[in-house]
Amino acid sequence: MLRGLRKPGILSPTFLFWKGGLRGLGLAFMYGAYRWHVDGGYGARVGRVRGDAGRGVSARFGVGGDPVCGHCEVVTVLEVIQRSSEFLARKGVDSPRLQVELLLAHVLQVPRLKLYLSFDRVLGVAELDRLRVLVQRRGRREPLQHILGTVSFCGLELAVDGRVLIPRPETELLAEAGWRWLGALAVSEPLALDVGTGSGCLAIALAVRCPRAQVHALDISPGALSVARQNARRHAVDGRIRFHEGDGLAAVPAGLRFDLIVSNPPYIPSCELAMLQPEVREYDPVLALDGGPDGMAFYRRLAGEAPPFLAGAGRLMVEFGDGQSGVLEELFRAQKWVVEGVTPDYAGRPRHLTVRRA
Ligand SMILES: C[S@@+](CC[C@H](N)C(=O)[O-])C[C@H]1O[C@@H](n2cnc3c(N)ncnc32)[C@H](O)[C@@H]1O
Repeated sequence: MLRGLRKPGILSPTFLFWKGGLRGLGLAFMYGAYRWHVDGGYGARVGRVRGDAGRGVSARFGVGGDPVCGHCEVVTVLEVIQRSSEFLARKGVDSPRLQVELLLAHVLQVPRLKLYLSFDRVLGVAELDRLRVLVQRRGRREPLQHILGTVSFCGLELAVDGRVLIPRPETELLAEAGWRWLGALAVSEPLALDVGTGSGCLAIALAVRCPRAQVHALDISPGALSVARQNARRHAVDGRIRFHEGDGLAAVPAGLRFDLIVSNPPYIPSCELAMLQPEVREYDPVLALDGGPDGMAFYRRLAGEAPPFLAGAGRLMVEFGDGQSGVLEELFRAQKWVVEGVTPDYAGRPRHLTVRRA
């Protein structure tokens, strides 16, 4: 119905009355009410009305409770970024504009930066429909990575879902320390173990970056192992990674001696779980987060269980949480480990501990 209403000027009451008598005036009032509804009632603006998907377009590019309305008036890339960013900001989402840009780039199947060259591009109804669903999911605090289905880790695209922890950027530094250590060893096939592999990020990065390495990866969660196997296949390293399901190191074949054991274990104290942001609290598996009463339960086990599996000059490298460095060093020293070093994350906070046997 509004397809012809391209020039608001011709919708002035005077013009319509002149053209169509009382019927025209009625039309003008209807349009006025529509403008009020759209501009005032919902805070959206009237723009070009273009049913480029060939479907009936009717009323508004809505915001309020709804980031984008796919059945509505057509909007540009820039408009939809702005409105959806406002929506996500109201929902308490961090970096809302970046999030919207990534979702929109996903919908349009273009690199994010290309959006900056297409701000005036008018989005089709189907595109708006798809984006709206994704923005609403993000507004409910579902992590971006779950919505997109993948995450980039050390330049590798990995599938993620609710069965695994979303790999964090700081863990890339642990992977890098690991592959540097393995790469420098004068052995033909260095052996590595990833304890609590989750998505497989550490094991896969080690296998990809150190093509001589043989890697073992274990997790207590069958769901996580299924995701990790899928990711290993995706990067064609499934032939060099053996996956084990089990609690702690019990599932690792006896007799193996690893040159490197890496682990990013659950380390959040149980009493702090409820305080995590919704993206973590509601979407990361609790098995990947809960480190017991003081957050140290997994490290205690590792310090006790790892020695028989470590080669003489082998290293154990672990990630830990904010403020845990001192306690962790004590914990390992108390079990006859030598602390080689603590390295910081991208924010300069102590994040990774390297130890060896005394
Ligand atoms: C913090 S997540 C780390 C996942 C992945 N390595 C990463 O860095 O993104 C910890 C992982 O340890 C696993 N896990 C927890 N308790 C375990 C246990 N007792 N034995 C083996 N794996 C365990 C969880 O299922 C989870 O996948």
